[in-house]
Amino acid sequence: LPYGIVGAGLKEVTRRVPEDEPPPLPENAKLKSIGKPVSRLDGIEKVTGKARYTFDVQLPGMLWAKWVAAPYPHARIKSIDTSAAERYPGVRAIHIPERILSAAQLRDPKAEQGNRYPTIRYAGQPVAAVAADTARAAEAAAKLIKVEYEPLPHVSQLEEAMKENAPRVFPGPTEQPATAGGGGAPPGLPQKGNVRGPDTKPRGIGPRGDVNKGLSESEVVIEAEYRTQVQTHVPMEPHGLVADWKDDGLTLYASTQFVTSVREDAAEIFDLPKSKVRVISDFTGGGFGAKYGIGNYGLLAIHLSRKAGAPVRMILDRREEHVSGGNRPNSIQRLKLGAKRDGSLVALQVQAYGTGGVAGGAGVGFCHSTLYECPNVLVEQYDVFTNAGPCAAFRAPGQAQGIFALEQTIDELAERIKMDPLALRGKLDVSGTDDCLARAHERKVGAERAGWSKRRAAGSDKGPIKRGLGFAQSQWVYLVQPSSACEVRVSGDGSVEAFSSTQDIGTGTRTILAQVVAEEFGLRAEDIGSHIGDSRYPMGPASGGSRVTSSLTPAARNAAYRCARELAARLAPVLKANAEDIVFADGKVMVKGKAGSAMPFREAVKKAGFEEISQRAERRDDYEGYVFKTPDVALSRHGIGGVQFAEVEVDTETGIVKVERVVAVHDCGRPINPKLTESQIYGGVIQGVSYALYEERHLDAASGQQLNANVDQYKILGSRETPKIEVILLEQLGAQSSTDARGVAEPANVATAAAVANAFYNATGKRIRTLPMTPANVL
Ligand code: MOS
Repeated sequence: LPYGIVGAGLKEVTRRVPEDEPPPLPENAKLKSIGKPVSRLDGIEKVTGKARYTFDVQLPGMLWAKWVAAPYPHARIKSIDTSAAERYPGVRAIHIPERILSAAQLRDPKAEQGNRYPTIRYAGQPVAAVAADTARAAEAAAKLIKVEYEPLPHVSQLEEAMKENAPRVFPGPTEQPATAGGGGAPPGLPQKGNVRGPDTKPRGIGPRGDVNKGLSESEVVIEAEYRTQVQTHVPMEPHGLVADWKDDGLTLYASTQFVTSVREDAAEIFDLPKSKVRVISDFTGGGFGAKYGIGNYGLLAIHLSRKAGAPVRMILDRREEHVSGGNRPNSIQRLKLGAKRDGSLVALQVQAYGTGGVAGGAGVGFCHSTLYECPNVLVEQYDVFTNAGPCAAFRAPGQAQGIFALEQTIDELAERIKMDPLALRGKLDVSGTDDCLARAHERKVGAERAGWSKRRAAGSDKGPIKRGLGFAQSQWVYLVQPSSACEVRVSGDGSVEAFSSTQDIGTGTRTILAQVVAEEFGLRAEDIGSHIGDSRYPMGPASGGSRVTSSLTPAARNAAYRCARELAARLAPVLKANAEDIVFADGKVMVKGKAGSAMPFREAVKKAGFEEISQRAERRDDYEGYVFKTPDVALSRHGIGGVQFAEVEVDTETGIVKVERVVAVHDCGRPINPKLTESQIYGGVIQGVSYALYEERHLDAASGQQLNANVDQYKILGSRETPKIEVILLEQLGAQSSTDARGVAEPANVATAAAVANAFYNATGKRIRTLPMTPANVL
């Protein structure tokens, strides 16, 4: 079947599994480990506190670090006096960075060139850091560092920053902003005031047709402006790193989404051979796109460790995390949609402004050009710089904002032409693709579960409490990380182990790795030593872009498959059989068709008398199907969809919006572990409802300070407000790898806010075009 984002006008390709991968897995009924809802192998460690997160790392002689945060949103540093801090008991090192703006800018050699001190561009930006014997000493000494500032005019609000006479966030050419948002905007200077753009090719997909002509030929035109807020990253474990600088090499314990990126950054910035940098990440307490590389905290920790000659722990507190740890940029989106009265789209014009503070990348995704069939599309995305903490990638960067506006616009069209919103999507899905077939199925299954046929006309309830049901489609891309590798080893004592440098951010990486390897040896997941989170192992994928499962499992299966074949050859003499006839099943080794030949796995391996065999495999990166290539990511033609239905209750007297129920139907290829797959979708929906109803960074325009920089004031969805979430996983086999695995974490987050907004309309008959849906916003 042809597949993919055909609406983008791209050439169709035929999907296939790379030739060097093992044959497809048999149907699920025959599998013993893959596809089973195995509980996390490290679950008990996690819930008992035994699991060592970076936050928990304790090393002999370890020092605690604290940074000094600038109080001004825009300022020049005139002088820094560290003498009092140096004398404070227990202080072991102080570091003042020459340039530090945001994690993304650490690598830019031109940033801040020629300045003695970096310019302060957001309130909370680190200025200096102290390492001391205790946390208290570090904190007390940090307060004694005297910094003399020359405050500069600042601007922290998006629309203010767009005005002609607004203060400039980046006035000079040596002070370039970086692109950290993952929204696809190319790097470069602001061209007009604080504004950079337009980017008319999000994710490389350019405009098509003639949008003005299309709009003038349309029978129905829908026009509206949407606004989304800044959402900060609130992982359970804040950003942090423990650095241990020794003459013979640097060891880093990192809370990270990508072990390899931490090593690359450290090696590059400190000019060390990669072999001299080891990164360890046993457990990472969550990450939604901001935990890549060493970060400014990591940079400071490494400097301090080198100076003090001792390991240094630098972990952000909640306030620092909210201000500096990255955020989903806000947006103002103007959409103009032209259609025929039968619903077919003629033209779509989008103008989007967003601010990622001091970092660029505030785009609103690629959905406008790819989700629906439309001949004339023009998308213009602008980055607006402000004196605010840097944005970072955030769970399906851009798409969550873009879909919020696009899916409401499509609903509005359905209402206008009096067509069922689901039927309209069916008409508009890009035809002739797998995506389209999958979506039709998702809508059908979801509509039945959600009770769509009983949905009433908008604003049907007469009293102050109004109920409604809404729908939205999700969209993300199927990502595979080139060269994702895994090694599988069988030792002479019968133990089987798997190794990959990839990490666990809470998703269950260890468990799925063990499940895939166990399958090939006829063992159980708990029989496999599953080793991850160490840069000494073969390079595994990043926990980003929903690509760990799609990238790691084909490599793991390939290595395990080959290792099992080699093991069979070694066992052939022991069992007096041909290697091809040896079967691994139910913890035993047996000869096909020979009754009574079964021998326990370990016993058989011991009899073979070898020390160790091992096989390494990589997920190949050169097969057809990749459309875009960036240094670490290849995007395939195949999209990932999913649809969500939300049921809301709106109290029109208090303005309180409750989400009662979400039905989430997601195509997951083959779920390697349905329990973990479902978990990802619960997480995505929870974060999406939280985005829809509560989360919002409040920056004070006068001081540029974040007013709600802690979780007591930055409201996230709690268990009492969490709706009933019903997850339906749809399997679609015959994909692009020998495991058929696909990611779901990001698609699960994309459609939620839009589904809630469409439900709000169905409840009240009013459109809510601004997030979050707080009482102040809604009434
Ligand atoms: Mo992400 S935004 O999947 O790192």
